[in-house]
Amino acid sequence: MVTKIIKIDPDNPDKEALKEACEILKSGGLVAFPTETVYGLGGDAKNRYASEKIYAAKGRPSDNPLIVHIHDFSELEEIAANVPDSARKLADRFWPGPLTMILPKNNVIPLETTGGLDTVAVRMPSHPVARALLTLSNVMVAAPSANTSGRPSPTLAEHVEEDLSGKIDCIIDGGPVNIGLESTIVDLSSPVPTILRPGYINKAMLEEVLGEVNIDPGILDSNANKNIRPKAPGMRYRHYAPKGDLTVVEGDESVVIKKINDLVEKDKKDGKKTGVIATVETKDMYHCDNVLVAGDRNDEYTIAHNLYDVLRKFDELGTEKMYSESFETPKIGMAIMNRLLKAAGHRVIHAEDNKSVLRLQDFRRVIFAAGNGICRAPMAAGILIKLLPENSPVEVLSRGLVVPFPEPLNQKSEAVMASNGISFEGFESRELLNEEITDKTIVITMDEKQRKFILDKYPSANENNTRVLAQMAGEELETMDPYGGSLAKYGLCFEAMKTSLQKVLSSGEE
Ligand code: TXA
Ligand code: MG
Repeated sequence: MVTKIIKIDPDNPDKEALKEACEILKSGGLVAFPTETVYGLGGDAKNRYASEKIYAAKGRPSDNPLIVHIHDFSELEEIAANVPDSARKLADRFWPGPLTMILPKNNVIPLETTGGLDTVAVRMPSHPVARALLTLSNVMVAAPSANTSGRPSPTLAEHVEEDLSGKIDCIIDGGPVNIGLESTIVDLSSPVPTILRPGYINKAMLEEVLGEVNIDPGILDSNANKNIRPKAPGMRYRHYAPKGDLTVVEGDESVVIKKINDLVEKDKKDGKKTGVIATVETKDMYHCDNVLVAGDRNDEYTIAHNLYDVLRKFDELGTEKMYSESFETPKIGMAIMNRLLKAAGHRVIHAEDNKSVLRLQDFRRVIFAAGNGICRAPMAAGILIKLLPENSPVEVLSRGLVVPFPEPLNQKSEAVMASNGISFEGFESRELLNEEITDKTIVITMDEKQRKFILDKYPSANENNTRVLAQMAGEELETMDPYGGSLAKYGLCFEAMKTSLQKVLSSGEE
């Protein structure tokens, strides 16, 4: 098949030139077209054969549903089983625009288009070329991103050509897209609206319209390796994967640069071709084969805009080892990091000074967790409460890992604490609960075994928010267990923990 390329001026789409593309859509063919997010590969959403062709051209698993693109709100009413108030409000505020809503479907859209699901994903794009195509053809267009399955989504017509030339009828070249990352997907078929894929329209923007909005736990990086499946089928695959190995390096800028340069040096010795995803601010600081600039930290949207192009360039260059800075920017950072971490297969390194760079003072809640929660955990909690300033906003808790029933403090712990001016009147041990590990919580254990236990058992725990006390303090030996020993041994344990906590607090001071 010869793929026809039609060039269209995005600022002033020529209707005549779009006619042929409209005819292709009406007769069940495939047309790639620009949207404000990424290029889409479109076919008639009501025609199951067109949907089957889309899956075939992309090499996409047929259980991964397509998004239906519309140009008028009445089309949503035509294909959804019902249109809740929340959908009307979101459409008023964000359509046309980069937001996809999931709603229960009726029978107008075939199951082939929705990957067998009884819900349908719908979006009204704002890009002038996409709007012109939808309006002129009057076809509802099922369109996934116009890339080969597993490659970064296309942000230029050239990317579509690379992947799909010869496999589809037509590509409309409207130049570069605007945003560069796929639309935000919000599921309105669940009781609380839930973000299934982060995008330009972020949680705060949705909450302004809807009130409470959840994020699908399956897309949170902290749950990446915990078998919590994302609800959007497409988010389960390792997408956007570059051919080489990509690793994201997190941390303060100067330590990140140093860490990446160290890693690059080692890779170079191994004879590997190396690359770094950097920013305008840092591009001259790396010593690798190719530095590609994602964007400017002072304008976070530039990073979203260029990310996929940069990933594709590394493929062209044949880069084998790639490192990226981390881009937790305020507005679109969640979407950028979601795509970047997927591209990296969730390989993340935390660049730290030799010292612990954790500042306990930055957490809202510190939970000491150990054993049955009546001995070392409450002692450590008591010590930290004393070390922190009186008006400190940090909440300090102690918990056990196995607490079949609540118990009072261990008597020797109580005695040692009393002699240090700490009392926990009416104390009863409690087992650590997953809900207690909220945002801005750090869980501190006495040894690595306890830490592993927590990482395995608690979905909210992750490598970052669950640490061993001695490690945080930069000490080699783990905190001793005084259980069953003399009062003096409890005293020693108390002093050791106090020293460790003092070190942790002072290492976090500026
Ligand atoms: O910005 C975009 O949304 C682009 C442009 C072309 O509009 N399209 C796009 O489509 O990104 P695609 O197919 O690459 O991604 C669609 C995502 C997939 O993760 C899919 O699993 C999810 O939407 N999805 C579609 N229908 C769904 C449904 N009924 N329930 C849950 N997830 C759904
Ligand atoms: Mg896609």
